Amino acid sequence: MTIFVTGGAGFIGSNFIFHMLGKYPKYRIVCLDKLTYAGNLSTLESVMGNPNFRFAKVDICDREAIYNLFAEEHPDVVVNFAAESHVDRSIDNPEVFLQTNILGTQVLMDACRKFGITRYHQVSTDEVYGDLPLDRPDLFFTEETPIHTSSPYSASKAAADLLVLAYHRTYGLPVTISRCSNNYGPYHFPEKLIPLMIANALNDKPLPVYGRGLNVRDWLYVEDHCKAIDLILHKGRVGEVYNIGGHNEMRNIDIVKMICHALNKPESLITYVADRKGHDMRYAIDPTKIHRELGWLPQTKFADGIEKTIAWYLDNRQWWETILSGEYQHYYEKMYTNRQ
Ligand code: NAD
Ligand code: TYD
Repeated sequence: MTIFVTGGAGFIGSNFIFHMLGKYPKYRIVCLDKLTYAGNLSTLESVMGNPNFRFAKVDICDREAIYNLFAEEHPDVVVNFAAESHVDRSIDNPEVFLQTNILGTQVLMDACRKFGITRYHQVSTDEVYGDLPLDRPDLFFTEETPIHTSSPYSASKAAADLLVLAYHRTYGLPVTISRCSNNYGPYHFPEKLIPLMIANALNDKPLPVYGRGLNVRDWLYVEDHCKAIDLILHKGRVGEVYNIGGHNEMRNIDIVKMICHALNKPESLITYVADRKGHDMRYAIDPTKIHRELGWLPQTKFADGIEKTIAWYLDNRQWWETILSGEYQHYYEKMYTNRQ
């Protein structure tokens, strides 16, 4: 079995590669990644020498390069993690989000049609459902919740989902889609809430909380997401959407305070800054379908997951310090200077 993993030099894709190579010694994994600012080859260092692993630097929008790789490797399965993934960047510059997230998905599915595969899996997000009000804790996203997006990022992911379902209905492409809540864990790029707050706290820098910090996210340890995708690939029904989330809703401000305490840093580092435009209030997944059909349940409790994550950032300073010292500095200045 050969599996193409696109975006495998990023946060979740790399964790998925580690999971699959560890669990299935007979599978061949080919990682396709453009190595944008978010892709980091050093993340894959530990698997580079594995004979069952190959890395190919390629843009999923590059039809010729993608077709060539399909002709060479004849993958059985494609799992598409490749995306522009940061909401704030999508607000600043939407275009590349439409290119990679929508048109890149189309190129991959065209290649799947041309060369034949047994499964195309689209890694999507709960953000396609829009948000839920804070005063209705009884509401959750199910797979039937209407698509109702807020940011250029979520709109591009929703467009891709619709295209994936269209390729299934129109061409019979054997697809599945997963829509997961916010992930956290090792190799999370330090522009996202949890790793950004850990890195800033360790450097005694201000912790920029958007608005009043009352927005709620439903956090899942990345390994649990990878296990859910593994299950969907092996046991999921073609043409279906599966929500993934572990009923772990938390307010941003509570997460940031928890990080301060864990690192023994003062809460006075917390700085309230201007809110994100169109900021979604609350995400909350109802994972009943994947639990009932595939027996999936999250295995890592938040208290344990956040402890492991903080320990990872303490043990792997070089990984994130290299990122912070590079091009990312310009992004940080642009996004956070004069934001108060
Ligand atoms: P990430 O930004 O850490 O990684 C994205 C990877 O895709 C990078 O390695 C980047 O180099 C690569 N990439 C970007 N454009 C590419 C292109 N045109 N061609 C080839 N490679 C390209 O993202 P992530 O957090 O690991 O997210 C992975 C997927 O999971 C995304 O599709 C995202 O929408 C989805 N998702 C993320 C979360 C989350 O909490 N992070 C939650 C649910 C769903
Ligand atoms: P983020 O990690 O960007 O994920 P998403 O927007 O996809 O959910 O942000 C998580 C939450 O944290 C979101 O409500 C925005 C907020 N946030 C801050 O308050 N400050 C920050 O510096 C960042 C990056 C995010």
